[in-house]
Amino acid sequence: MRAEASVDPVLDRETMLRAGRRAYDRCDELAALSAVKGSIHRFHLTSQHAWANALVGRWMTEAGLQTRIDAGGNLVGRIEGSSPGLPAVMLGSHIDTVPDAGRYDGPLGVMLAIEVVDLLRDAMPGMPCALEVVAFSDEEGARFGSALLGSNAVAGNWRDEWLDQTDVQGTTLRQAFRDFGLDPARVRQAARRPDELVAYLEAHIEQGPLLEAYGRPLGVVTSIAGARRFALSVTGEARHAGGTPYDRRRDALVGASFAVLAIESIARRRDIIGTVGEIHAYPGAVNVVPGRVEFSLDLRAETDAERDAGWAEILDTITGVCQERNLEFHWVEEHRARAVACAGWLRQAIADAVAVADPEAEEVPMLYSRAGHDAMVMADVTDIGMLFIRCEDGISHAPAEAVTPWDVALAVEAFAAATRTVLTADRPTTDRSADA
Ligand code: GLV
Ligand code: MN
Ligand code: MN
Repeated sequence: MRAEASVDPVLDRETMLRAGRRAYDRCDELAALSAVKGSIHRFHLTSQHAWANALVGRWMTEAGLQTRIDAGGNLVGRIEGSSPGLPAVMLGSHIDTVPDAGRYDGPLGVMLAIEVVDLLRDAMPGMPCALEVVAFSDEEGARFGSALLGSNAVAGNWRDEWLDQTDVQGTTLRQAFRDFGLDPARVRQAARRPDELVAYLEAHIEQGPLLEAYGRPLGVVTSIAGARRFALSVTGEARHAGGTPYDRRRDALVGASFAVLAIESIARRRDIIGTVGEIHAYPGAVNVVPGRVEFSLDLRAETDAERDAGWAEILDTITGVCQERNLEFHWVEEHRARAVACAGWLRQAIADAVAVADPEAEEVPMLYSRAGHDAMVMADVTDIGMLFIRCEDGISHAPAEAVTPWDVALAVEAFAAATRTVLTADRPTTDRSADA
């Protein structure tokens, strides 16, 4: 998209740098709230989550937001527009993490949203909408397997069967809500109606190397890849490693290894993304032929049709491998999120804001997100738009995740400008899909 500097800068340079530095430093402060000292592990409905809600809630209050914890454990702050109760422009991201996480995946978007409120709050009494910031409770799904639990509650997609899911300790999600001081029977009350919201905007690190390759700090998200997650298992027979000849073996790990290689080669050929991130062999002894292997599959593509065709081929191939080796193959789907498009009018507002914040860009980068985001669920209830921020070497879901304070300052400028445009825009009444 051609850069068109049609949005006035909201900020002078000094304000922008100060706000960016504070957002950056707060990500460091939040990183200390972890279940494991020296690394970042912050999961849904844990004590670390409660501490994070308290700390981020204090920052929200200081920015002028009225805060509450909703029935899904999400922290929500609100500042009214020209009269109380108007539909809101919602900004947000998540504050849960993967195990051994970086400090910016999720928290940076929340910190940027708080800075935007701090910068725009003096203008709010004249605004035709309210402004809200949400720190979603669960995006990663690291504790209970199902991802995006926080945003699914807000988007009105809550399913009570999720309450039976357990964490590695065997605690059910139902019990975790009770331990957190929330009633599992009331999670649906977190749901927002479409008429309560004008739009949902999310700023997030890119989690890939494209912006860095383009030499640009910021980009506009066009759509978010559809994802499916599976728990797979291959079962053979555990027997003596020394005494069992090859033609008598039913080695589950060899079968699973062929499956892992097939997943990579099918995904590469089809230009989709397949990852086996977890694998466990049982009984797990040096002198025993593995009798059972459990492993995960995360499958993504720009469109649901490409992803589903890839899964069909993977399923066929693994089934064939297992038949040849006299192994049993089972699979369970644990998560599915459809691919979603960012709304055309929000893409344009963000692109215009990026053009102003990064005037050296000949073209504003437009890219689809290979990672999942709360925005993909919020698309069920309102229009969504996303701003991407460059991260070093594209690294994410790892402690080495890094951004620069300068890029964060530019992100504050762009996110504030885009939010101001959206607060005052005439929202298109017709279609909510991307058309730009
Ligand atoms: C979320 O971070 C995902 O894309 O897995
Ligand atoms: Mn993540
Ligand atoms: Mn994230």
